[in-house]
Amino acid sequence: MAKNNQLDHHGDPDGSRGSYPNETMRLVIERASCRSFAPKQIEPEVMDLVLRAGAAAASGGNLQPFSIIRTEKRQTAERLAELCGGQPWIAEAAANLLFCIDYHRLERWAKLETAPFTATCSFRHFWISFQDTVIAAQNICTAADAMGLGSVYIGTVLECLREVRTIFELPAGVFPVVLLSMGYPKVRPEPRKKLGLGVIVHSEKYNEIEDHALVAAYDKKYPQSKFEITEDRLATIEVVCRRTYGEAFARECIARIKSQGYISAAQNYFGLHYRADDLPQGNEEFLEIMEEFGFGWLRKYQPDVNAIR
Ligand SMILES: Cc1cc2nc3c(=O)[nH]c(=O)nc-3n(C[C@H](O)[C@H](O)[C@H](O)COP(=O)(O)O)c2cc1C
Repeated sequence: MAKNNQLDHHGDPDGSRGSYPNETMRLVIERASCRSFAPKQIEPEVMDLVLRAGAAAASGGNLQPFSIIRTEKRQTAERLAELCGGQPWIAEAAANLLFCIDYHRLERWAKLETAPFTATCSFRHFWISFQDTVIAAQNICTAADAMGLGSVYIGTVLECLREVRTIFELPAGVFPVVLLSMGYPKVRPEPRKKLGLGVIVHSEKYNEIEDHALVAAYDKKYPQSKFEITEDRLATIEVVCRRTYGEAFARECIARIKSQGYISAAQNYFGLHYRADDLPQGNEEFLEIMEEFGFGWLRKYQPDVNAIR
């Protein structure tokens, strides 16, 4: 029975190893996040190559509306580890890369060329730029793997956006998307089990999977993920269920946990780890933060026709 330590929600290792027509396919299919780094610097020429893979990524209109803030200072890494919810691998990593949407640079370019610019006010721009930024990050992950490095995304920068903005002196129009901790792995991480193609890939139209097949697919992905029932966990799940769907659902969930004799992976994910009652809280604050960072697409667009730029 799994103790609910902080790695449990990452799922089970996939012991199987495949054979592939080439090394690139092995690299992308048998990749895994790395959370244990050797105390070894990344050689500048290696880092340069890996970063070039990010610059080479596809981007909408080839605009490349992102910046990557690289930090190799121990003190900064330690501060980030603390701010991102106590994740020690951030402090251990030889380098941390902060991927940001960057409209500051694009706007300066437009201004210098006397061109109109409204990307910060456009949801369409934001949506595409978010994808551009993540695609560049993933190119970097793959390149890092190819150079014998390891990396892990850190999504919890979202919880400390204002602090991160101050640390890296981000100007208005620069919005952090994700952090990537990178270094030489202490041990090559084991790939995690993933859902099969039959669940993820739909042919010609969206095919609704049968209930039993859906549950079986997740059971296959998380075969070990039966979490021990403790009073604390039960109490938390009950509160989460009550706040989310009310008293009757809370009773139903607790009765089911007791009758099955464990907390299931889904109950652990949404009842304890990514708490269903908690995660939608603070949406308004994120909207405020977006505005503070110079992103105005949440409001009705007002052309700035009298602006002298
Ligand atoms: C957007 C995003 C945010 C993530 N944030 C974190 C994080 O804050 N801390 C962490 O340890 N792993 C983080 N991860 C890594 C995932 O936990 C990991 O990809 C997942 O458990 C699957 O494992 P694998 O990458 O080894 O296949 C993140 C991954 C993504 C894509």
